[in-house]
Amino acid sequence: MNRAGEGMQVLISAMRLEAEGVMSLELQALGDQPLPGWEAGAHIDVHLPSGTTRQYSLCGDPQEARYLRIAVLREEKGRGGSREVHDSLRVGMQIRIGTPRNAFPLAPAAAYQFVAGGIGITPILPMILAAERAGVPWHLVYGGRSRRSMAFLERLLAHAGEQVEVLPADEFGLLDLERIAARAAAGAETYSCGPGVLLDALTARFDAEELGQRLHLERFSAAPLPVVAGEGDLKVILARSGKEIDVPTHCSVMAALRENGVDVPSSCEQGVCGMCETRVLDGVIDHRDMLLTDSERARNNVMMVCVSRARTATLLLDL
Ligand code: FES
Repeated sequence: MNRAGEGMQVLISAMRLEAEGVMSLELQALGDQPLPGWEAGAHIDVHLPSGTTRQYSLCGDPQEARYLRIAVLREEKGRGGSREVHDSLRVGMQIRIGTPRNAFPLAPAAAYQFVAGGIGITPILPMILAAERAGVPWHLVYGGRSRRSMAFLERLLAHAGEQVEVLPADEFGLLDLERIAARAAAGAETYSCGPGVLLDALTARFDAEELGQRLHLERFSAAPLPVVAGEGDLKVILARSGKEIDVPTHCSVMAALRENGVDVPSSCEQGVCGMCETRVLDGVIDHRDMLLTDSERARNNVMMVCVSRARTATLLLDL
């Protein structure tokens, strides 16, 4: 299944500057077509007119049936997707979006602590709505460069000022991770989205067994390929041709396939879009994407060849 191939055409019905460099877009279905359902933490693929695909968290209300909302930070040094959103998309244009997928689901809990860094506030907003609807107490720690750059700030403060800690770096410096860890230790399930440096620092404050249990993270992009001690070279075997391809330690399976003339569709090349999903017929996959759920991983039958590798010396691919 090509995940990025699913989806629908939508109309951009509104665009709003939410903060310095942050544009929100409302996306409406065409005609009578219903919008897809989704839950807090979900993201969609956005297929831009240039052919580029990017992933953005849904930041509206899952109970809002008229439109989906995303918010996009303009990244001057990025790969160009966010600049295209800001510079080329306009109200009235149609774009294609993928089916919502959720790699950052909100599990039931007695209390929540949300930690957002900058544009990482986007998946947190529907989580706050979900917590309120479930009657679960919540607290938000929201950091950013400056108040001017922090999207949805006024709305959050007007909605629930006492539960929101606004900590722009130009006023308060770095977030107080000790306090965040202490609140987690007191029983609050912690969900955080933000830049890698924040999530790495946060991860270091939790025990390894708490990751994914008490601390739930969503990165803007997949973590860099971890250097695994003793990781050896990998051989992939293409089932349809019998061709064998060596994948050196510091090379992705996708790069090795391409070097050997095997084309694999791709978009993000960071393990977040699903475009390069490839069936695996034998061998044990070492999943390093941000997309598959735990049960999909356990099936051990598909991998994102842009980032994932193997726990066995060979993998048999359905190519
Ligand atoms: Fe996006 Fe591999 S190209 S997951």
